[in-house]
Amino acid sequence: MRALVVYESMFGTTRELSEAIAAGLKRSLDVRLCRADEVQTEDASAAELLVAGGPAHSQSSATPASRQEAAVWGEDPATGLRVDLTEMTTGPREWFDELESVPGLFAAFDARTDIPKLLTGAASVRIGRELRLRGSTPVVPPESFLLTRSGGLKSGEAERARWWGEQVAEAARRARPRTTTETST
Ligand SMILES: Cc1cc2nc3c(=O)[nH]c(=O)nc-3n(C[C@H](O)[C@H](O)[C@H](O)COP(=O)(O)O)c2cc1C
Repeated sequence: MRALVVYESMFGTTRELSEAIAAGLKRSLDVRLCRADEVQTEDASAAELLVAGGPAHSQSSATPASRQEAAVWGEDPATGLRVDLTEMTTGPREWFDELESVPGLFAAFDARTDIPKLLTGAASVRIGRELRLRGSTPVVPPESFLLTRSGGLKSGEAERARWWGEQVAEAARRARPRTTTETST
């Protein structure tokens, strides 16, 4: 089974999570990892499983306005934030709009601050809703990975992301619709 991991990240934490998730998926699937502003529409046609993620921005997933705010934070040395990218124009949600169809199966994840979810929101819920609206089926519930209040992944979260990738691969293999050839043998 082919899986495509698509993410957006300016300060690097969602990128780190995406790399760990891709490593987990790779134990049993053929995996491609792409930033949302670099992925091609053909990559989606080739994939049966889409794993999509982004950071919590303003209690949901990122928008053009929140990305601009992130760029301002990134330019301020007082924030102490590591900056991977000074600009990001496209996130998973905008990329979905470019597609004629999305892969049949999906899993959504996000990076959010380690305080109650009621306060942080969860980008994965919004990303998941967009994919369900486009006809894709979740193989696992949306998952959040936690950041410290000063930014950066909490200890152990990269390892948990890798483990989650393995679980997603297993769930996708169970959920995969069987082909005619497979059913008749
Ligand atoms: C404009 C903006 C809004 C944010 N809003 C939230 C939020 O509502 N909830 C939250 O948990 N984190 C929020 N954050 C923190 C981000 O999730 C955090 O900076 C994360 O590291 C960004 O992901 P990245 O490192 O992949 O770019 C916000 C960050 C920015 C720049």
